Amino acid sequence: MQKSIFICNICGYESLKWFGRCPNCKTWDSIKEIQKEKTLSLGRKIKPVIVKEENEQEEVRIVLGIEEMDRVLGGGLTKGSSILLGGDPGIGKTTLCFEIASKIMELGLECLYVSGEESLKQITSRRKRLNLKYVFPVLITNEVQDIMEATNEKRYDLVIVDSIQSIYNPEIHSIAASISQLKDVSIRLIRHLKEKETAHILIGHVTKEGQIAGPKLIEHMVDTVLYFEGEKVFPYRILRTIKNRYGPLDEIGIFQMTKEGLISVKDPSEYFVSEKVGENSGSTLFPHISGSRPIIVEVQAITPKTNFPNPKRVSLGYDLNRLYILTAVLEKAMGKSLYDRDIYVNITGGIKITEPAADLPIVAAIVSSIKDLKIGRDVAFFGEIGLTGEIRRVLYSENRLKECERMGIKKVFCPKGVPRRKGMEILHLDNLRELYDYLGIF
Ligand SMILES: Nc1ncnc2c1ncn2[C@@H]1O[C@H](COP(=O)(O)OP(=O)(O)O)[C@@H](O)[C@H]1O
Ligand SMILES: [Mg+2]
Repeated sequence: MQKSIFICNICGYESLKWFGRCPNCKTWDSIKEIQKEKTLSLGRKIKPVIVKEENEQEEVRIVLGIEEMDRVLGGGLTKGSSILLGGDPGIGKTTLCFEIASKIMELGLECLYVSGEESLKQITSRRKRLNLKYVFPVLITNEVQDIMEATNEKRYDLVIVDSIQSIYNPEIHSIAASISQLKDVSIRLIRHLKEKETAHILIGHVTKEGQIAGPKLIEHMVDTVLYFEGEKVFPYRILRTIKNRYGPLDEIGIFQMTKEGLISVKDPSEYFVSEKVGENSGSTLFPHISGSRPIIVEVQAITPKTNFPNPKRVSLGYDLNRLYILTAVLEKAMGKSLYDRDIYVNITGGIKITEPAADLPIVAAIVSSIKDLKIGRDVAFFGEIGLTGEIRRVLYSENRLKECERMGIKKVFCPKGVPRRKGMEILHLDNLRELYDYLGIF
């Protein structure tokens, strides 16, 4: 049997031979060789346990009181659960975890903060800057054994490891932050802390180069995977659930980064809909369902004329292939080719949308841009568009309308069959042609 395999540092792609460039994620120099035995041997015999019904326990949750964090976790931190928190360096992972640690102490529970990246001085000054109410114990180390010892001496409700890539096992002959180290350290810590019913958050830096093993490699080991996203130049940050054994998927939490730390954004619709919506053409509103709540987001499009033979199609926050399809369907409905225009679509606020209910607002934004029509901030759109231009029903119509109403939207274009609502004009569309006609007379 072959003794070693090759794994991509970034995406976890496995192969039996080496590549200079990962065939999956196309990163150069990210494929590293690792020994099979090293990744598989856990050095311990495990006896099977028969699970009886009475062994099943109800999930115990710790409600942190950081609203957006509790939401993405599915109603608080589950006792003994394993969480991976990934994100670009500098996005706010440490800041968020400092606040979580302080909250745990405030609740009268025990939290241990393991820092492999910052000195005591840095930690103290950050704690001061964030003006945290409660002090929590910090363990400064880079060795996994120190964490095991500390958690053997005392029982903690939550252990935060900042970052998992900064922790290594000296017994393994492989450099820190390599794939073997990351996998070994993660398996050890997760198993150890699960046995102790200690919840844990492992912080992982997302890396663009292949030198440091990325958090994707350990996603399968944990119960919950959260990614912290946002543009550093903007103050808002989005915490997204990629995987959750204890709550709904695609849930997002929205925070604002301030000098004093992160603040939960309680009314995201208010936050994402800019003052300027409706002042210009090419902008529409969409009641989006994200996880368990509706959020009104703004869809923007510009469609400048081009003389190049291949017009550009660019989409930020929405699937580009879907934009190509929508453009083709729209061309058919308009009876006119759009080969002479570039099309740029953007979902504002850095939100990524995967639900097809956004088809209609996207097409409406494109039409509004082409015809230079202002749609206004009291109109919203939702509905999936089929290949023949039919407008199809989508889930959660009631919730979407309710949020529209709350945000002062008076007119909603949507698929047939959506129930009418008092005080709102509901315009049922059967096909795209009808939208085109409506917008023509706006
Ligand atoms: N000493 C500081 N003074 C002011 N702002 C800071 C300081 N340290 C960090 N920040 C701000 O907090 C943001 C998040 O930092 P941090 O939580 O350390 O990110 P991460 O842990 O994800 O690398 C930084 O981008 C920066 O804007
Ligand atoms: Mg950090």
